Amino acid sequence: MSEHSLSYDTVICSLNRQRWDEPTNDTEATEAMAALEQGKVLFLPELAFSLSEEELSLLTPELVDPKRKNISFNAQNGKVQGVAQDDKLPAVQTLLQRHHQSAVQLVNSLLPGYQSAVHSPANTLRLHPVTTWRDSTSWRKDDTRLHVDAFPSRPNYGERILRIFTNINPQGENRCWRVGEPFPTLAQRFLPRLNKRFSPLSSWLQNRLGITKRYRSHYDHLMLQLHDAMKSDMDYQKNGPQVALELPPGSSWICFSDQTPHAAMSGQFMLEQTFLLPAAAMQNPDHAPLNVLQRLLQRPLI
Ligand SMILES: [Fe+2]
Repeated sequence: MSEHSLSYDTVICSLNRQRWDEPTNDTEATEAMAALEQGKVLFLPELAFSLSEEELSLLTPELVDPKRKNISFNAQNGKVQGVAQDDKLPAVQTLLQRHHQSAVQLVNSLLPGYQSAVHSPANTLRLHPVTTWRDSTSWRKDDTRLHVDAFPSRPNYGERILRIFTNINPQGENRCWRVGEPFPTLAQRFLPRLNKRFSPLSSWLQNRLGITKRYRSHYDHLMLQLHDAMKSDMDYQKNGPQVALELPPGSSWICFSDQTPHAAMSGQFMLEQTFLLPAAAMQNPDHAPLNVLQRLLQRPLI
């Protein structure tokens, strides 16, 4: 298959919104959730996140602790991690708290079906150019390669990874993504190559040794392999079905990143909010990767 086998409309759904709390009618909300659940990127070209003069001065890679990839904020305990300069900590915390509140408003207004079910919020301030990881880390961490998200240390038992992104580049630079094929096609393509044998003992050991925060399920075992199989297949990276997206400053976009193959090709300065969502809270849980994989393998995976 080639790049031309996917059209722009099959991977993206655009919506005009300028405010994070803009009211949405039922039809529009249903369509927005349906698009996300089909694996599309929900693109909000006019939804900007405004920064004050002081906040704009935070946009420099030197602010990030060299041991970390990004600055992160846990809204549940108010903790910020990854700031290299202590005097900037209060401003970063205020920014990320405000960003988190905006993301909650967006879910409540645009994706109301998920409002009561989303949990474990974590948001990040990403200050490095995305190419930093392509050049300096292993292929597994290289997010310029098409992949679906799977967290090695945080098994999620099929819960959905809902991510909201906003380009805050002050110099007008787009963030460039590639987006890939629908999850059922992806799964059928890669499943034959994955090791479908699952060792409860090795999962127990990894948890016992602190490698994982909880016992890794069969589902998580497969999703991690899928992530790796995609990134290590250079023919798929080059010739697999994909569409390039240009995401300008002042725009936001949303996807289920455990489902939608994505790669960040270029860009710098972004805000990102992650929520977890139980698959049962979806309008159509059949689209969840857990249910797709269970249907294909005809066995329970958690
Ligand atoms: Fe990712």
